[in-house]
Parts: sequence; C-alpha cells; structure tokens
Amino acid sequence: MFWFDGDPEQTGPPVWVSDGVVVCQDGRIVASGPWTELYQRIPADAVVHPYPGHVITAGFVDTHTHYPQTNVMARQADGVTDWLNRHAYAEEARFASPDYAATGAETFRDEMLRNGTTTALVFATSHPASVDAMFAAAADRNMRIVAGKVLMDREAPAGLLDTAERGYRESAALIDRWHGQGRAGYAITPRFAPACSPAALDAAATLRREHPDVLVHTHIAETESEIARVHELFPQHDGYFDVYHHHGLTGPGTVLAHAVHLTEDEWAACRDTGTAIAHCPTSNLFLGSGLFDLRTATAHAVTVGLGTDVGAGTSFSPLVTAGAAHQVARLRGWTPDPLRLWYLATRGGARALRLDDRIGSLAEGHEADLVVLDPKATPALARRADRAECLADLLFALAVLGDDRAVRATYVAGQRVHHRLP
Ligand code: GUN
Ligand code: ZN
Repeated sequence: MFWFDGDPEQTGPPVWVSDGVVVCQDGRIVASGPWTELYQRIPADAVVHPYPGHVITAGFVDTHTHYPQTNVMARQADGVTDWLNRHAYAEEARFASPDYAATGAETFRDEMLRNGTTTALVFATSHPASVDAMFAAAADRNMRIVAGKVLMDREAPAGLLDTAERGYRESAALIDRWHGQGRAGYAITPRFAPACSPAALDAAATLRREHPDVLVHTHIAETESEIARVHELFPQHDGYFDVYHHHGLTGPGTVLAHAVHLTEDEWAACRDTGTAIAHCPTSNLFLGSGLFDLRTATAHAVTVGLGTDVGAGTSFSPLVTAGAAHQVARLRGWTPDPLRLWYLATRGGARALRLDDRIGSLAEGHEADLVVLDPKATPALARRADRAECLADLLFALAVLGDDRAVRATYVAGQRVHHRLP
C-alpha cells in the first residue's frame, strides 16, 4: 500500500509499505503501516479483510464531473458547443423531475464506487432538486461529495436558465440545507462565463463572500472559440481568467475545469491566487478541445486534480483518466513521472478541493476512504505486473492498462461499498 504525504515535487516519493495494514474505526484510519508492527494493536473482535498481492491506495478524487450527463456519454458531436446543444442540454432538462434525478444520481454514485472514486466535485443541473438527489444518493453510502446547482442565465435553452436573483436564492437555500451535513459539501457552480451574465457572476461572488468555506466550480478555456466568445461578451476584461478574478471567483477553493488554452499570464495568475485546475484528458480528446499543458502546470506549481468530466469524458475510471493524462502529456512532448499522475488522482485532487487534511491519504487520522486494486485483474495487466521494476512502474502499468476491472474493493468511511469477485 502507498500514500502521498504531499506533492512529490516537494515531499518526494510516496510512503510505501509492502506488507501493510490499514486499521479503521468509526470511519477513520486509526493506524496504517507494516502488518508486523501493527497486528498486535488490532482489536480481537476486528473484522479483517485480507488482500494479498493487491495494492491499497487512498480513494480516488474526481475533481470535475457532471452526474446528469451519464446518459450522453459517447454522443458524437463537432466539439463542445455542438455537443452541449445537441446532447447535454436536452438531457439536463430531464433533471427537472426529482424521480429522474434520483435514479440518475444513484446510477452515477454506483459507477463512481465501482471505479474507486470515493470523492467527487460534481455539477448537478440548474434544478435545485437535482442537487438534493446527488447529496441524498451520496449520503446513502456516507460518501463525501461536493456538488452544486448550475448557475446559467443566458445562451442555453430556456428550460435550463435561471436568473441571477433566482440562482442566488436557490443556491443559498441549498447551502443551508446541505453544506457540512454529514459528508456533503457545497460548490457555487456558475456553468461558464458565456452562460453567465455579469449579474449572475456577481450573484456567485455574493454567495462566496457570504459562505467563504464553500467551493467555486466552473469551466475555463476549454476551446479557442469559447475564449473568443468570452472576449466578445466581456470586452472590458483582460481575458477569461480575469472575468472570474474580477468577480471574486478565483483563489483557494476555486476549481476551474479544462484550462486547455490558458496564456502564460493566466498560468501565473492561477499560481499566484491559489486557484486549482481540473485536468480532464478523456473529455478533451473526445471533443477535440486540445491538449492540456501538464508540464507548465507542474512547473508553475499550480494545484491540479484529474477530472473524468462525464459525460464529455469517456470513462468513469480515474485509472483510465490518469492513463489519458499521460498520453496527452506525451502529445505535448512531455513524459510525466507516473507518481505525479497518482498524486493527482488522490491527494492532489483532495488538495484542489481543500480536503487534503481529511482525505487523499492513508496516514493515521484521515477518513477511511480507500481502494484495493488488483494488479493482475486482466491477463495483459498480470503479464505486465509480473515484469514491473518498481512501485512507480507497477502504478504506471495500472494507469495505462487498468480500468474498473482492476478495482477489487472500495471502502468509504471504513465500510466496504463495492466488492468485485475475482
Ligand atoms: N462548458 C460548459 N458546460 C460544459 C459541459 O457541460 N461540458 C463541457 N465539456 N464543457 C462545458
Ligand atoms: Zn465539465
């Protein structure tokens, strides 16, 4: 088993224990380390789940995804605007129905757990009931979820639009109802600058001032044409990042999805303000949005997490997403350290969500969200695992060849919520 004590650029390689045990009690990790050191401290009545030959890691953190888009995965389109207009918006309109939303949220939750994701930052739709449904489904498994109602008051079908005032009112009510209840956290969720009037962004900023511990979650710089539209709509601003910055929507606790086409100044601004980025490689490849610059993000020490971005993304699996992040980096001529990819999928994602004091690590005191991976889950993985040269090499093979089949078990707050028979 292994976990990161911090960013491997600063704190070095992960803690690696070859015959390890994680002791959980009341939803927390009370001890983790070598079996030979800890077995005497395990209470006689403890239930032991042995996983010989497996890899135990902190649960995966998905830093950007849309639960109401599950049913529009793999819908063909000519880029993001076409995809939103032809597929995503029509599907999101169905989430006006609380029953449809409840079924969708449960399906999505189960997919996440099957793939080893124990925490996610989730877009709902503009309907408040869609947020209730996601939080209720997560609470049923005691799962830590951060989600929010989408704020959007222009450039989309009427059935999805709210107004700045209604968006403010409904978001404030949802924050009161859910934020800090059990493991639920709220994110103020303006869809993206083109779909938000200045008044809607002001409303988001007011919510943030009134609730400084909730997150802000939106999209930025996914395509060149979207950036051009932002310049047209906000001519007084100095680019896309500045639109959010001017409205008080940047800084620690803000997660911006995509950031495929940021300028050098915008990378520096992300670093200087402590704004986090969700890198969504399968989505960017599927829609043809462009190639994220992980090397520059890393060089600037920008906080980055990985996002599946379902439904533009093509997989629920953080393993597939990490493998795609490697491939996108290669297409930009860079070879990231495999350990960086695993950091992004676990503790880096937790840091982006300002939750790294609670999740993203197997160190004592953290919440007991963890994943058991089978490095021999498929014949191809088994052959490659037999030839792994070191932990980093094994983890690289798991990211490139692995998917939900490699997730043997998922634990949330110490309870096994997914178990795959070999
Ligand atoms: N930009 C604004 N909304 C969306 C969305 O739902 N998906 C993607 N990929 N980009 C967006
Ligand atoms: Zn998205």
